[in-house]
Amino acid sequence: MELVIEKCSESPDYAEELSDNVFNSDIVTSHEIRYQFQINVIKTFMSGMEKKGVPVPDAIYDRLGVLMGLPEKEFVERLYLNEEGDKVLAKFSEAINQLSMGTTGLSVWQASCDLANLFRLVPSSEYKRVVELGSGCGVSGMAISKLSNCEVVLTDYDDNVLDLLKKNAVKNGLMSEEDGDTSINQAKIRCLDWCDFDFTEWKEPADLIIAADVVYDTALLASLCSVLRLLLRTAKAAIVACTRRNEASIGCFEHHLKCAKLEIVEYFEYENGEYRTLDDLYYTHPSNFPFFSSLKTPTIFYNIQPKK
Ligand SMILES: C[S@@+](CC[C@H](N)C(=O)[O-])C[C@H]1O[C@@H](n2cnc3c(N)ncnc32)[C@H](O)[C@@H]1O
Repeated sequence: MELVIEKCSESPDYAEELSDNVFNSDIVTSHEIRYQFQINVIKTFMSGMEKKGVPVPDAIYDRLGVLMGLPEKEFVERLYLNEEGDKVLAKFSEAINQLSMGTTGLSVWQASCDLANLFRLVPSSEYKRVVELGSGCGVSGMAISKLSNCEVVLTDYDDNVLDLLKKNAVKNGLMSEEDGDTSINQAKIRCLDWCDFDFTEWKEPADLIIAADVVYDTALLASLCSVLRLLLRTAKAAIVACTRRNEASIGCFEHHLKCAKLEIVEYFEYENGEYRTLDDLYYTHPSNFPFFSSLKTPTIFYNIQPKK
């Protein structure tokens, strides 16, 4: 923001361009991006401009006025843009509350954004079919499908989450809107409950398993690891992204991986646009799937395979 305000103070044209191409752009005004988020960004911009004594274009005041008159909706849209910021890469409906209708799956979590960003760094043609566990809004599964052009099977166990997944897959052009129309079928939605999984009935083999932010309830981790073990009979690897919230659940997950005869073959973390390995090797790669949270903690990535 400081850089943007600096540029506006150097050239009034820049502030006008910012108004047309960002605050009042078609991308922003034609989607239901959380109003409070837009209001906060505009207010921060205005207060920075005021401090520098730079006039704010009228169109930005007008936009703020419009936004302040709109009631916030229960479901909003989250957009991810290309590098140039002029095209929508992917978009997701999500609830504004992280816990909604009794589930955490109706809103997007940090780990899924960071996992999506990892696939931007390493899009792979090696994987033709991916299964995602505990998909929630489907950010990571749909991102890998779009970035690597592979099929994805998005799974969850909550009915409202499964409905939202379908809506988001249609929004992202990965599924036909009409039930029974299979003309667009890059994504499939399936109910998969870690605590009630019958592998003999499972008809969706894949070569990669992914999951984001599924390590939080220690009571579920034995079941989750057992599902991973079964799916890894056909898949080559599982990539699990976890938010480091508390050491107990991370330790418990690693313990259950061992019990399920699964091995962590690779481990690294991502924070503030930087990947870091256990040997302290760093790689800077700012995210195209940013996630803002008051909790400042890294995302851990595990590459998991069956023990040889
Ligand atoms: C914290 S959310 C993460 C959602 C999404 N992966 C993300 O990171 O944005 C956890 C997800 O796991 C799902 N989940 C919880 N228990 C489950 C179970 N027993 N079987 C399948 N999915 C489950 C929830 O419905 C929810 O979608």
